[in-house]
Amino acid sequence: MHRTHTCNELNQKHIGETVTLSGWVNRRRDHGGIIFIDLRDRYGLTQIVFDPNVLKTPFSEVESVRSEYVLKIAGEVRKRMEGQANEKMDTGEIELYVTEMEILNTAKTPRFEIDVEKNVNEELRLKYRYLDLRHTRLKNNMMLRHKMIMEIRNYMDEQNFVDVETPILIKGTPEGSREYLVPSRLYAGKFYVLPQSPQQLKQLLMIAGYDRYYQVARCFRDEDQRGDRQPEFTQLDVEMSFVEEKDVMQINEELLIRLTKKFAPEKTIQSEPFPVMSWKKAMDNYGSDKPDIRFDMKMVDVSDIVKESEFGVFSSNVKNGGVVKALRVEGAAEFTRKEIDDLTELAKIHGAKGLAYFVYQEDGTIKSPIAKFMKEEEVQAITEKTGAKAGDIVFFGADDYVTACEALGQVRLACGDRFKLRDPNVFAYLWVNEFPMFEKDKESGHIAAMHHPFTRPMAEDIELLETEPEKARSMGYDIVLNGNEIGGGSIRIHEHSLQQKIFKLLGISDEDAEIRFGHMLEAFKYGAPPHGGIAWGLDRLVMLFAGEPNIREVIAFPKDQKAKDLTLGAPSVMPEKDINEANVKIIND
Ligand code: AMO
Ligand code: AMP
Repeated sequence: MHRTHTCNELNQKHIGETVTLSGWVNRRRDHGGIIFIDLRDRYGLTQIVFDPNVLKTPFSEVESVRSEYVLKIAGEVRKRMEGQANEKMDTGEIELYVTEMEILNTAKTPRFEIDVEKNVNEELRLKYRYLDLRHTRLKNNMMLRHKMIMEIRNYMDEQNFVDVETPILIKGTPEGSREYLVPSRLYAGKFYVLPQSPQQLKQLLMIAGYDRYYQVARCFRDEDQRGDRQPEFTQLDVEMSFVEEKDVMQINEELLIRLTKKFAPEKTIQSEPFPVMSWKKAMDNYGSDKPDIRFDMKMVDVSDIVKESEFGVFSSNVKNGGVVKALRVEGAAEFTRKEIDDLTELAKIHGAKGLAYFVYQEDGTIKSPIAKFMKEEEVQAITEKTGAKAGDIVFFGADDYVTACEALGQVRLACGDRFKLRDPNVFAYLWVNEFPMFEKDKESGHIAAMHHPFTRPMAEDIELLETEPEKARSMGYDIVLNGNEIGGGSIRIHEHSLQQKIFKLLGISDEDAEIRFGHMLEAFKYGAPPHGGIAWGLDRLVMLFAGEPNIREVIAFPKDQKAKDLTLGAPSVMPEKDINEANVKIIND
């Protein structure tokens, strides 16, 4: 071994001992004749002192040492001089007087400083990720991730879940996202795909009778990147047999509470048991299927009030089947013109055509670009319904239901931030359930499964599948934390006939269903038990526990925002021979 202790181990108890440490030069201070270095390893820092009076190694060698050199040093542990102790360091009471030093390796000057937190260009950080990972913050994130996963594994084992690995090369299974294709060398023209989740395999494990499955599973999705999305990410994937929704919720809730108490003890859990809210209520009140319920600020529907209004934007929208929603923001009358413009821009980014508003001025009058088009009774009724008072603003969204809700929902969040209503010390967990079975793709007009095609419809809505499928609700549920979707799952279909019916409703012909999902339909014929499950976005959960703004900060080697791996340089050009062997022809490079 190149060391007797780590760089975070030595304290008063070791005073007088001769020890050996190895690590990186975190910081070097030259005090004319004496050199101090903070030596760093994964565990922490130790101050080492090069005093020519005790040092046997030539001093000139020490003078050549630079940041991030790798050193092996031997020396004596001494108590720091009176007043020199550093309470912030575990090793702050001692320092090591070096007798011998060996340079194990030199280092180029890093492209950014390691020992200080600065705003470094992310491209550079990702290219030199091995240097970036030396930062205390990133190191702490990796440790937190490791500890949380350990705790999860322990809990799942205690609860009788079995960890089963499922394959990474699987069959194309349109579950919702675009998949990564892997060309087959042996079977020209055929492809494996990388799983967007182990969904079908975990269901097959239930049919196999494994009863309780979990896996810390890697998933791959060729989607547009965002702060909370990566092309490959990690799920805690869970499936259970003979369960109902509340059983799945209960076990997840228990684990989330345990993780919170252990790894985020400073956070207050807003309510236990976690509240359960239907998708409709979440959209109606908060304009989101993942509401941040740390603050109230609910929106109301004013369609009825304005349906005959002379303000054509509102009345014609209602007549065309849309809605008009109103959001009262207390104290917002103080917003500047620019703030209102920014909120309008935000609403537009989320699909709104505009953001009308009433400003309730202190003198009792209303300032608004649209009030003049409205009758006194309409304005009155809106004031009553929203509860607006002098000093407030009421914002309006007129659109189809989902767009109006979501656009105002974003305005709500921005106002929540503006008034600091999103308390960082609170963890507000929330279950959202009773999702619509289907959603319409805005571009193609096709209906698609809102969760995935294996999600079970609610028993009371089965009849709606025939008549008004867009109104049918599913047994899907999401777990939300402070406005982030950290997991989603459902009770599944386990009957052949019902699964076939859902495929049909999704516009998948019997023939197509056979080609794409034949294995599932066949398996359902061999005694499939009722089952259900969930998958957490583990990266997102760790991100929230670590208080980080995006999941890249809790992933060792993430892709950048354009899906590139900058550390290794992928995707990359491949030799023509390999491309030919993979039976691939490049058509537009
Ligand atoms: P779903 O698609 O909702 O469900 O995924 C589950 C959770 O995974 C996280 N997540 C992501 N995290 C990072 N990057 C991404 N690109 C990404 N996509 C999703 C989210 C999400 O809630 N098979 C079903 C689960 C089930 O029904 O049991 C599934 O994958 O936090
Ligand atoms: P306009 O008639 O386009 O000048 O809009 C008058 C006001 O209504 C402006 O403040 C717009 O931002 C707002 N507005 C326009 N369309 C909508 C809409 N669909 N929903 C909410 N507000 C809107």
